[in-house]
Amino acid sequence: MENSFTPWLSPGEIGAAVDRLAAELDRDYEGRMPVLVGVLTGSFMFMADLVRRMRVPIGRVDFIKAESYGAGQTSSGNASIIYSPPGPALAGRTLVVVEDIIDTGITTTAVLECLGKHRPESMEVCALLDKPSRRQVEVPVKYVGVTIPDRFVVGYGMDLDQRYRELPGVFYIPQGEAPGQA
Ligand code: IMP
Ligand code: MG
Repeated sequence: MENSFTPWLSPGEIGAAVDRLAAELDRDYEGRMPVLVGVLTGSFMFMADLVRRMRVPIGRVDFIKAESYGAGQTSSGNASIIYSPPGPALAGRTLVVVEDIIDTGITTTAVLECLGKHRPESMEVCALLDKPSRRQVEVPVKYVGVTIPDRFVVGYGMDLDQRYRELPGVFYIPQGEAPGQA
């Protein structure tokens, strides 16, 4: 890990946020057997912790993968879906989309559009982190762990050019440390 990474959320702080989200989902999804759909790759660690902390039975754990072109810290302006759960697994079901972080909203919009085509009974978004000041497209986010300012973060599943996903905490990368952030 680079020396200039600044600790932003400790594993304990992340755990507290995940606990709270799990409790909110338990309250809202009692008896509904929700299907949790994680947005790859960034959500893998959050998903693993979230399902372990939830108490309600879960109908299915699956993932969807969106690809937005371009490396570094900027989003390209569009996202295409390159893997999604099979349609019959979604039709008529109660979906919870599990996101690591919502930035411009472009990825989540593409994910919701793709999943929505399979006519789920309901669809809500649960994001560990939210950067509302960066939003370019409005997205409905019902469950938010921590709202953060316009800063690029890594760790707890989140990457910079595929690195640092393994860090157990979330770190802020100072501006200029990696090129790309407008
Ligand atoms: P959006 O399409 O701009 O909302 O970006 C969504 C995706 O970009 C997230 O699911 C992350 O994978 C990635 N992303 C956005 N902001 C960050 C960040 O600060 N650190 C790491 N990845 C990020
Ligand atoms: Mg992501």
